[in-house]
Amino acid sequence: MRGSRINYYICNFKAVSHGSNINYMGNGIRHVAVIMDGNGRWATSRGLERIEGHYRGVEAVRSTINAALEAGVEYLTLYAFSKENWGREKDEVDGLMELFCKTISLEVPSLTEKGVKVRFLCDRAGLSREVLDSLDYCESKTAHCGRMTLLVALNYSARDEIVSAARAIASEVSAGGMSLSDIDGKSFSDRLYTASVPDPDLIIRTSGEQRLSNFLLWQAAYSEFYFSSVLWPDFDEECFREALAEFGRRKRRFGKTE
Ligand code: FPP
Repeated sequence: MRGSRINYYICNFKAVSHGSNINYMGNGIRHVAVIMDGNGRWATSRGLERIEGHYRGVEAVRSTINAALEAGVEYLTLYAFSKENWGREKDEVDGLMELFCKTISLEVPSLTEKGVKVRFLCDRAGLSREVLDSLDYCESKTAHCGRMTLLVALNYSARDEIVSAARAIASEVSAGGMSLSDIDGKSFSDRLYTASVPDPDLIIRTSGEQRLSNFLLWQAAYSEFYFSSVLWPDFDEECFREALAEFGRRKRRFGKTE
């Protein structure tokens, strides 16, 4: 039953339209990160199981990827599963893991066709062999793609990411490969999962919630925030374009004057 639901959503994949080729690079936007929230509420408000909301959320993922490509965004980060999400009901967690495995593997041909390289921001410990194999397969098959990088945060905790960077630095210092004066913002960033990725210019959160929930805490230092009341399964290409348009109206000063 679950497999056929996944196939339904995959088969109903909407074609990409590159027609208008809107490019927001002029506003300096390179990296958009999204906290995809509201799947559960979307489903329960329709009398459906929560997992149905996650299935529908995959359609919104596709729309967002297409809209980001159309806009010329270089990096798109999606928050798919936090370490805290393990605390949900077992059925929901199992359903999500199955959804990730199948979707990630099945989307590979379409992602390569569109030139999307995929990278996972994740703590591999705690993920099943099946999930890890699908992540590795997707990363290796899309590694040559250069149009946009899609970063998927899965089994992710920003605090743990920071702690693990601190540990890596401490161990390099104690082994003599690094001195205390080498520790700075750049060397620290280079030890995060997002090494070599520019910080997000814009962080979008859907569903009306207004918090970061342990997402990109270091990287968000100067990000602009955009909160949408739309539940994630209803977040379409137009919603993404509205967020970019709002970003275009913001004045970023990075602590300086005009
Ligand atoms: C948050 O909504 C959403 C999640 C924890 C899962 C997000 C996953 C997807 C959209 C599938 C994406 C798949 C890939 C491969 C990237 P919630 O369940 O917390 O919503 P609620 O606040 O209404 O309960």
